[in-house]
Amino acid sequence: MKKGILLSGLCALGVMTACNSDKSTPGYTYMDDMYRSPSLETYEAAENTAQGTAAQLPVEGTVARGYVPYDLPNSNEGYEASKNNAAVPAYFAELDAEAGKELYGQFCSHCHGEKGDGNGILMQREKILGVPGYGSDRLPDITPGTIYHVIMHGKNNMGSHASQLTYEERWKIIKYVMKLRQDQSATAAPAEPAV
Ligand code: HEC
Repeated sequence: MKKGILLSGLCALGVMTACNSDKSTPGYTYMDDMYRSPSLETYEAAENTAQGTAAQLPVEGTVARGYVPYDLPNSNEGYEASKNNAAVPAYFAELDAEAGKELYGQFCSHCHGEKGDGNGILMQREKILGVPGYGSDRLPDITPGTIYHVIMHGKNNMGSHASQLTYEERWKIIKYVMKLRQDQSATAAPAEPAV
C-alpha cells in the first residue's frame, strides 16, 4: 500500500514538472533535439544556402517531369510553321475524340460553343466578339498543329491556355475540336464561288 502511494506520488511529480507556463513550447521533454527539430519555413532567410533562402530555385535548365517544350514563337512565322504538324505526337491518330469532350466543355465551349459553331454563351451575351466556328468555311487552313499553337500562345482575343492544360489534355481537346470541325464543315453552307 505504501509502495502504491509512493509510486503515484512520483508519477504526479513527473507530470507536474513536465508542465510549463509557456504555452508555445511542449514543456520539458526527454531527448529534446528529437522533439524540436530545427525546421525552416520554405522562404525563410537561411545563411548557409547559396541563394540565401531555405527553398532554392532549381538548377538552370531544369525541365519538370512530363513537360514538353514548344519552340515555335508567337508570331506569324511561328503560326505558319505550326501548320506542318511537326509537334503532333504519334499517338494523336489513335486518340478517341470523345476523350476530350469534357475538357473542351470546361475550357473552350463558353466561347466556341458546345458544337464548335462559335456561338458560346459569352458570344450570345456579347461579352466577347469575333469567336470563329471551327468549320472549314470559317477556318479553312487550321490543322492539329495550328490548334496546338493557338492553345499555347493564344490569338488576339483568345488568351493562351498553356498553363491550364497538360500536354496530354491539349491533344485530347484538339482531337475533339477536329471532330467538331468535321461536323461543322458538313453542315456549313457551301463557300461562295470565287468570282
Ligand atoms: C475567351 C474566349 C475563348 C476561349 C475560352 C477559347 N477561345 Fe479559341 N478563339 C477565341 C477567339 C476570339 C478566336 C479568334 C482569334 C482571331 O483570329 O482573332 C479564337 C480562335 C480559335 C481558333 C482558330 C485560330 C486560328 O488558327 O485562326 C482555334 C483553333 C481555337 N480558338 C481553339 C480553342 C480551344 C481549343 C479552346 C479551349 C482550349 C479555345 N479556343 C478557347 C476565343 C476563345
